[in-house]
Amino acid sequence: MFSTLFAIGFALVAPRTVVASCAHGVEWIHPFSATVNGTVAIPAFSYGTTTGPLNWHNLNTNNTLCGNGTNQSPILLNTTTSRAPYGSITLNVPITDSAVLVNLGTNVEVILNGTLKAANSTWKLLQFHFHTPSEHRIDLAHHEAEIHFVFTASDGSAKLAVLAFFVQVEDEHTTPVIEDILSYLPDVQIPGTTTQVHAVDMSAFQEHANKLSYYAYTGSLTTPPCSESVSWFIATSPIPLYIKVYKALKDTTKTNNRYTQDNPGQTSNIESTIPEKNWVVPTRHKGGSSSH
Ligand SMILES: *[C@@H]1O[C@H](CO)[C@@H](O)[C@H](O)[C@H]1NC(C)=O
Ligand SMILES: *[C@@H]1O[C@H](CO)[C@@H](O)[C@H](O)[C@H]1NC(C)=O
Ligand SMILES: *[C@@H]1O[C@H](CO)[C@@H](O)[C@H](O)[C@H]1NC(C)=O
Ligand SMILES: *[C@@H]1O[C@H](CO)[C@@H](O)[C@H](O)[C@H]1NC(C)=O
Ligand SMILES: *[C@@H]1O[C@H](CO)[C@@H](O)[C@H](O)[C@H]1NC(C)=O
Ligand SMILES: *[C@@H]1O[C@H](CO)[C@@H](O)[C@H](O)[C@H]1NC(C)=O
Repeated sequence: MFSTLFAIGFALVAPRTVVASCAHGVEWIHPFSATVNGTVAIPAFSYGTTTGPLNWHNLNTNNTLCGNGTNQSPILLNTTTSRAPYGSITLNVPITDSAVLVNLGTNVEVILNGTLKAANSTWKLLQFHFHTPSEHRIDLAHHEAEIHFVFTASDGSAKLAVLAFFVQVEDEHTTPVIEDILSYLPDVQIPGTTTQVHAVDMSAFQEHANKLSYYAYTGSLTTPPCSESVSWFIATSPIPLYIKVYKALKDTTKTNNRYTQDNPGQTSNIESTIPEKNWVVPTRHKGGSSSH
């Protein structure tokens, strides 16, 4: 397992295809190896029709959880959702000149180093990426976007954590570091391309983030292979972004949210809609008049 994490962490230095085989069904957490100005492999799944979310489980035998998992993400959140103890989340991303922005076709991803302290564990940052609109919903409502910081356990286990932030489009406020990073989008308009992002300073962002309240639940990756046992921490209040920046993001990521999954522990939406299994045929009233 250590060599697996090593390979992922150092993928930028020693480009190679990262095909990690780990326990807990978390065998594919980093879909590419990237080099600055290099190219990356575009995933086989999409947010379209036949290769879209309703069919992810049929695209690859490793994706079965996308169809029949019982702790899948995203889910509906509301006031009854568990929260992480206040002050128990600490994000730390050192200032860096060597973050890499990647266009995966399905998403844009920023690769950089950092740590998260949450649920009494320390996690290692792999990348963060964007979904438009949000994947999770609060009281049934989507936000304009959702940012996912993806971490692996630093103890060598295959566990994953995701720290998530909703984005709300605003006239008067923005989040400067996200705006700075997204200002590089014109350099990666072609899926598969990468560029180096200079002077990424997350200090103000993380100072704010570490004071927020977080929903906490155990779910899955929201992309194939939909691996479970993912610790989710989702900020209850959104971060702002100017509309111009949001539009540049959306023009690149298009619509890339997975549909809402069943509540944790319940049969997956796909399984529960198989007719023979669960349909209750409504009783017809006999002798009713039909009108045209
Ligand atoms: C990437 O390529 C562009 C155009 O060829 C070049 O100007 C830029 O310096 C390169 N970036 C890096 C980090 O090598
Ligand atoms: C499933 O994942 C394993 C481990 O990562 C990999 O070796 C195998 O090629 C994958 N199967 C398919 C059909 O892609
Ligand atoms: C999900 O489907 C796979 C492949 O058909 C099967 O091996 C696995 O047992 C199923 N899991 C559940 C929880 O039904
Ligand atoms: C909160 O969400 C849960 C799970 O979806 C649902 O069962 C419950 O009715 C919701 N409660 C409120 C107050 O919306
Ligand atoms: C992350 O840290 C490793 C060494 O700890 C370094 O080799 C790598 O270049 C760093 N990656 C980025 C994107 O800064
Ligand atoms: C973290 O550790 C404290 C003290 O041991 C414990 O009370 C708390 O429940 C733990 N929190 C989590 C989320 O595991």
